[in-house]
Amino acid sequence: MSISALFSPLTIRGVEFRNRTVVSPMCTYSATDGLANDWHLVHLGKFAQGGAAAVFTEASAVEPRGRITHGDLGIWSADHAQALKPVTDFIRRSGAMPAIQIAHAGRKASMQRPWHGNGPLDDTDRARGEDVWDIVAASAEPVKQGWLMPTELSVPEIASIQAKFAAAAGHAVDAGFEVLEIHSAHGYLAHSFLSPLSNHRNDAYGGDLAGRMRFTLETAEQVRAVWPEDKPLFVRISAVDVDGADEGWSLEDSVALSGELKARGVDVIDCSSGGIDRLAAAGLGPREQGFRAPYGSRIRDATGIFTMVVGLVLDADVAEDLVASGAADLVAVGREALYNPNWPHHIAHELGVDPEFADWPEPYGWWLVRREPLLDGVRGD
Ligand SMILES: Cc1cc2nc3c(=O)[nH]c(=O)nc-3n(C[C@H](O)[C@H](O)[C@H](O)COP(=O)(O)O)c2cc1C
Repeated sequence: MSISALFSPLTIRGVEFRNRTVVSPMCTYSATDGLANDWHLVHLGKFAQGGAAAVFTEASAVEPRGRITHGDLGIWSADHAQALKPVTDFIRRSGAMPAIQIAHAGRKASMQRPWHGNGPLDDTDRARGEDVWDIVAASAEPVKQGWLMPTELSVPEIASIQAKFAAAAGHAVDAGFEVLEIHSAHGYLAHSFLSPLSNHRNDAYGGDLAGRMRFTLETAEQVRAVWPEDKPLFVRISAVDVDGADEGWSLEDSVALSGELKARGVDVIDCSSGGIDRLAAAGLGPREQGFRAPYGSRIRDATGIFTMVVGLVLDADVAEDLVASGAADLVAVGREALYNPNWPHHIAHELGVDPEFADWPEPYGWWLVRREPLLDGVRGD
């Protein structure tokens, strides 16, 4: 038996995760026309070398209109799948599972890259050749004042976007992904249907909880029909709209949604939170480490579905405890992986799981184990 819950393997359907650490989806806004390039190969490839069990692409749009910025990845055509193939091949060769998050940005589409302002596209962006496009959402209400006004989707338009999610799942198969996640968090399109703060519809896709859940549930069903039986399907949710406040979408709503998703063949609920109207990317403010553990715990206990917990997991003992305590089956890291792509290897060493650097890529591990005894002498302590 492994001395670490975090570094024990996990099998979901036909996919074995070598441990419980996952690199979270993170937009890098570095694609052209949604196509992956050598940036994505190196960026994602180094996380696979770094020891994570699965490496997620950033939110990859199911149609051009569903991108957050002009630089987002897309997965709406065979060309997009082809461009991602070298990335999935490399990740798999490095011992990790290639994973893709498919997404539609809804009313948070047509934005500036963060370093261009992180607001709606404007004249400065237009001068750079990055024009505004029309956006859509559950209801005709902007993220906040001064932002683009979305058009409310009609029922046939909803069906057309759901078909694009299913088509994207087909392209993801062709691209060689082993894991697929539907993005239903952070205020993007699917979440804008779930939350009573952003869904003001009176038809079958709004109103009570069942109506607001309909978009995500139908989308999951259609994606599951295309995504192979032996591959895991994840859904990322904002477990609550507002952490620590009884406002909007609640944890009990998430329990209900998770149960319904499980019945439709979803395997893992990826527990994030927030993003409905305040931040473009959720969970970036000051918090305590592992603060979403209670969300993972409650959903896992109530429904028996696998959970992944994300958000401010920095230290080995926090990550270990998330799995050992039963809050999460998988632990996702975002910014910590940007800071240290070898984070999983480092914490495995720290936890005593990999004292000999045996899990590192051989061309590194061979040297690192010989480097250890030299360090004291060199550092003089
Ligand atoms: C640069 C950056 C880009 C992100 N892009 C996405 C994304 O594409 N999809 C998503 O669901 N979350 C996205 N997030 C949120 C992360 O996946 C993660 O949930 C969040 O950063 C909290 O985890 P952390 O504290 O380990 O960074 C992004 C976060 C960062 C920092």
